[in-house]
Amino acid sequence: MIELRRLTKRYGDSVVVRELSLSVAKGELLVLLGGSGSGKTTTLKMVNRLIPPSSGEVRIDGASTDGLEGHVLRRKIGYVFQKIGLFPHMTVADNVATPLSLAGWGEERTTARVTEMLEMVDLEPSIAQRFPRELSGGQAQRVGFARALAAEPKLMLLDEPFGALDPVTRDKLQQEFLAIRRRLELTAVFVTHDMVEALLIADRIAVLKEGVLVQVGTPRELLDSPADEYVERLLEMPRRQARTVAELIAGPPDEPAATREAQGGGAPP
Ligand SMILES: Nc1ncnc2c1ncn2[C@@H]1O[C@H](COP(=O)(O)OP(=O)(O)OP(=O)(O)O)[C@@H](O)[C@H]1O
Ligand SMILES: [Mg+2]
Repeated sequence: MIELRRLTKRYGDSVVVRELSLSVAKGELLVLLGGSGSGKTTTLKMVNRLIPPSSGEVRIDGASTDGLEGHVLRRKIGYVFQKIGLFPHMTVADNVATPLSLAGWGEERTTARVTEMLEMVDLEPSIAQRFPRELSGGQAQRVGFARALAAEPKLMLLDEPFGALDPVTRDKLQQEFLAIRRRLELTAVFVTHDMVEALLIADRIAVLKEGVLVQVGTPRELLDSPADEYVERLLEMPRRQARTVAELIAGPPDEPAATREAQGGGAPP
């Protein structure tokens, strides 16, 4: 569905994405993971031509996007980007409705859909008539996510779509997203720097380091055979956290009775 062939982006002398080759199958969720500045956003924006590649090619559905106008391409692809926010002069409802009017939906159907989408991302109906400046960061992010999904695109690009959310909302939206993408057979590239999030949602994870692809594989493959020390290090934190949490949940090991006696503890309640 998406194929990157030796995709490269240079700014002056610095190469920020280097000869990246990668393909994403229909219905697959590929996570692009890497530290800050590793080229994730740049890669994603080259897919829908918000950034023109310096060299290499992006193919979508078997056809090169070289000759395509960026806006034509972007109409087919849903996207949520880190900094490209909502249209500031439009209400929340109008923001979410934008892809629907572009797709020619009628008024009634659009209104119903907007309500449904806002509900899905846990936003109060009263928020629909507010403007983006009147929202919190997490609320704005949810509106962006609702807008990207509203017209049920077949292809989606998401750049840290849940970065500003509290853990409970984040978990809910991750689950929601997984359900939606199965239902729609959505093909998606999802950027995050959070390895836990990647392990939880990815079919495959592509690890970028300084613009170079260091490994691509299923979460299992990464855990079983990390390609290098960098990938190993990225996995260290989720491993340690998982162990600590598992231990806490399991509770303290049984103390021998003699120890309790000696501490004057007696029988537990
Ligand atoms: N217009 C530009 N001119 C020069 N350098 C740029 C430009 N845009 C991005 N860069 C550089 O390219 C590199 C990759 O940037 P990019 O935004 O793709 O990183 P990222 O992986 O998305 O990072 P983050 O996790 O912080 O969002 C960075 O070093 C950045 O400074
Ligand atoms: Mg980025």
